Amino acid sequence: MKIAFFDTHQFERNLYEKENEQFGHSITFFETRLTEQTANLAAQYPCVCAFVNDRLDSRTLNSISANGTRLIALRSAGFNHVDMKVACDLGLHVVRVPEYSPHAVAEHAVALILSLNRKIHRAHNRVREGNFSLDGLVGFDLYKKTVGVIGTGKIGAVFAKILAGFGCQVLANDRVQNSDLLTAGIQYVSLEELLGKSDIISLHVPLTPETRHIIDEKALARTKLGVMLINTSRGALIDTRALIQSLKSGHIGYAGLDVYEEEEGIFFENLSDQVLQDDQLARLLTFPNVLLTSHQAFLTKEALGNIAHTTLQNISDFEIGNILSNEVCVQRF
Ligand code: NAI
Repeated sequence: MKIAFFDTHQFERNLYEKENEQFGHSITFFETRLTEQTANLAAQYPCVCAFVNDRLDSRTLNSISANGTRLIALRSAGFNHVDMKVACDLGLHVVRVPEYSPHAVAEHAVALILSLNRKIHRAHNRVREGNFSLDGLVGFDLYKKTVGVIGTGKIGAVFAKILAGFGCQVLANDRVQNSDLLTAGIQYVSLEELLGKSDIISLHVPLTPETRHIIDEKALARTKLGVMLINTSRGALIDTRALIQSLKSGHIGYAGLDVYEEEEGIFFENLSDQVLQDDQLARLLTFPNVLLTSHQAFLTKEALGNIAHTTLQNISDFEIGNILSNEVCVQRF
């Protein structure tokens, strides 16, 4: 099938070319993101392959649909960047990669916790400058600390088990209780209780209208003084303005963020020779107790391989008329 592949990155291109040897699709790689302005590039491509910061809003979808696209293959688990109502109305099928490595994302969340707590990023910079002082680098034992996991689906469940392995008391909040976690002694509590009791809070819910700003000013006020907040899910789960206020007041002790509310057009790009125009992001980068990564939690060999295989398989399934097991269903949004 002819595929217009948007927002192509060096870390994935070779992988897709190699994986495609067994599928035989005709892929055109575009480095640009898919937006209303670039949608014309997809003309005559029955399939558009999109990443997390492509903007699949009503205008883009109308444009690609009018130009002959019938399938949108997301190389991501999240589909919050697609206006699913419009896609449905236009008869566009949307497939995704629901699971590729929950370990990749969960382990990155743990990396953020360990780095922030033991100040590895700061210590690394210091010793490279010949500064071997330990002042300001005091961390805390994770053992026996209370960790709150919001969302115990595939990623949250792996994360909860890793933290239980550190000897933490894990509290969970989800609409559905995971029986494996209950057996492992993990306790489900209300969101309010989780916010009030946790020393570390990690977000693993999808971004939906219900979860947007689940961590807002009110939620932050309920948290313990000095709490560590980790977000490897989607930026808009946190009200960034409220987070900055809470960091400035000293209430939030640490924030580890792999995602950011306004990351589109910034994350994944090399902007090192430009002036950063996003004032909130610039402010976040000034805090010594904030660690930011550029939406890289998924970035392991294993995850990339699985994403490439499933994406191309999803497209083949559509092409030959198989059931689309990874289609985003109307009931899901
Ligand atoms: P999943 O669908 O397996 O789990 C999500 C869980 O959240 C489910 O158990 C669901 O019941 C729960 N949930 C949904 N709404 C809720 C609410 N309002 N309150 C409480 N619980 C709620 O999803 P998975 O695979 O664990 O991924 C989670 C998220 O991680 C994705 O939606 C995506 O946004 C993010 N992600 C981030 C990546 C990165 O590179 N930073 C890579 C992959 C996923």
